Amino acid sequence: MENAKLHRVLIVDDEENVLKALKRTFMEDGYRVDTYTSPFDALGFIEKERVSAIISDFKMPGMDGLEFLLKTREMLPECVRVILTGHANLDTAIKAINSGAVYGYLTKPWDNDEIRIFLRNALKNYELERENRKLANLLDMRNKELEEANKNLETRVKEQTRFITNQFNKLKATFMETVKAFSRTVELRDPDLGAHMGRVAFLSRSIAVAMRLDGQTMQDTVVAAWLHDIGKIGLPDVVLAKDEKKLKDEEKGLLREHPALGELCLKDIPGFEGVSTIVRHHHERYNGSGYPDSLYEDHIPLGSRIINVADTFDRMLYSMGYGHPELVDKAWSYIKGFSGKLFDPDVVKALGDVEDLWRRSIKTLDIARKVGIDRLEPGFILAEDVKTKSGLLLLPKGVRLNDFHIMRIKNFHRAKAIKGWLLVLKQAGK
Ligand SMILES: [Fe+2]
Ligand SMILES: [Fe+2]
Repeated sequence: MENAKLHRVLIVDDEENVLKALKRTFMEDGYRVDTYTSPFDALGFIEKERVSAIISDFKMPGMDGLEFLLKTREMLPECVRVILTGHANLDTAIKAINSGAVYGYLTKPWDNDEIRIFLRNALKNYELERENRKLANLLDMRNKELEEANKNLETRVKEQTRFITNQFNKLKATFMETVKAFSRTVELRDPDLGAHMGRVAFLSRSIAVAMRLDGQTMQDTVVAAWLHDIGKIGLPDVVLAKDEKKLKDEEKGLLREHPALGELCLKDIPGFEGVSTIVRHHHERYNGSGYPDSLYEDHIPLGSRIINVADTFDRMLYSMGYGHPELVDKAWSYIKGFSGKLFDPDVVKALGDVEDLWRRSIKTLDIARKVGIDRLEPGFILAEDVKTKSGLLLLPKGVRLNDFHIMRIKNFHRAKAIKGWLLVLKQAGK
């Protein structure tokens, strides 16, 4: 055997002759051989030395061969164990082999060539098994390392994702609040217009959700809705105050400039390209009869088509200053009547899908009541114009109060510039 020198063979037998004969045979093959007549001494030996194979006699005084081999199993688990036995004990030897305690048996008397081949095969088997075990251990180790690395990576990716998502959500919230704040500044110029933009944004968002718009188009549409009439800030009071139908031609011309003015205000803000385009086209009509560019059908950005429906609906609904059930039906019939003509039929359908939402917001209104300034709450709707004692209009009838409005009203009240109560419409149950 090529690696014979690497293998050390231990033989245990109480008969010196047997030991001598076997030692000679195996040494001729190049193995290092150690022999013991006492199994106890042999155990002492393998406590200190490593051996590849142990051949033990079956019948020995003090400890039988099987018991001895079992004891060595704990000390040298990989070693090849062979029992040397006469024909009388063959059954016991075969049982031991079947239980896995020993590798094989040799019978006395033996044939020299036979036992040489037997040991050579046994040691080959031993080498293969050792190699296998080494590889299996290595694989196990690598797998554990990989598992550990994967776990760490997973945790790190999860942490990073959580961090980025948090930052993104914060940024998004800040962004939307900035847009709303920008929209609210319009209320300082014209409170009615500010309230209108807020309501149109709410309705446009509901329509966009019903139409399952993708994230970016949805965001651009809602932001554009919050700001769609921003171009009206620069219009003269007389144009702002009048009903569009009562405007003179030149005033109408001025009013029709507001979508382009709005676009001009927004187009240089990075990331607002989509928003400013939607604002520019929010008065286009589906059949091409709108302004400023007479676009039609799909040539009009989807966000503009949505805002156009929400805007028309809201202006009809609030033409009396606040939403009234009769106006709801009138406005809804009008929108439905012009579906496919003035309005995108898909958008009209989506407005119908959220009918519950806008009907509920009107139905929940109760009759007007007097409420002290210090008891105003966000959500109340003004049932009268709020004017200072000198006649300056602070907020018009129909505005849904928010924190900002209430703060302004309280400030004017503290300065004794307005009366101590207001007529408001409260939601039912409040
Ligand atoms: Fe507009
Ligand atoms: Fe509008």
